[in-house]
Amino acid sequence: MKIVAFGASSSSKSINKQLASYAAGITAEQHGGNVEVLDINDYEMPLFSQDKEELLGQPKQAKAFYAKLGEADAIIISFAEHNGTYTAAYKNLFDWTSRIDMKVFQNKPMVLLSSSPGPGGASNVLAQANASAGFFAADVKGSLSIPSFYDNFDSDKQVIKNPELLDKLTQELKKLVE
Ligand SMILES: Cc1cc2nc3c(=O)[nH]c(=O)nc-3n(C[C@H](O)[C@H](O)[C@H](O)COP(=O)(O)O)c2cc1C
Repeated sequence: MKIVAFGASSSSKSINKQLASYAAGITAEQHGGNVEVLDINDYEMPLFSQDKEELLGQPKQAKAFYAKLGEADAIIISFAEHNGTYTAAYKNLFDWTSRIDMKVFQNKPMVLLSSSPGPGGASNVLAQANASAGFFAADVKGSLSIPSFYDNFDSDKQVIKNPELLDKLTQELKKLVE
């Protein structure tokens, strides 16, 4: 099983990239498989507009991102929340990719996560991602928001230190292979 994971953030210190990577590691450990963690900075493109699309067509970065998703047997995304919604970096990548194929997620089994330093745990953006998943051929199996990231995640060891949250995460990840 190939597990493709990424944080939907362009921050070099992204807590969501850490969480996605950790969750992918748990999945591989418990159910077998190998992990590829993507950095969405590798797929940076100009700000999407239909004018730019007429000029540029389908950029190679969007094609490469779509191909990576296509290689996956399972996809884990952890969403960062900026002002209640997606980060501009992720939304831009998503918009370009959706112009190649609206079925961006290609019917892959997915777990959608989110986290923020605050108690809300980026649950607004997670709710949006879940609500729209069906339009983009995302076969969402599980979903979890991790609140108060720095209280619940040990950044040095790169593990969740709250046992209840770890249990919840493990349960959600298990659904990828059920
Ligand atoms: C422009 C901006 C807007 C933000 N808006 C929210 C928000 O709406 N909700 C939230 O929980 N955190 C918000 N935050 C804090 C982010 O959750 C925090 O920066 C987090 O580290 C982002 O995830 P990342 O590290 O994976 O990029 C915001 C941060 C920035 C820079």
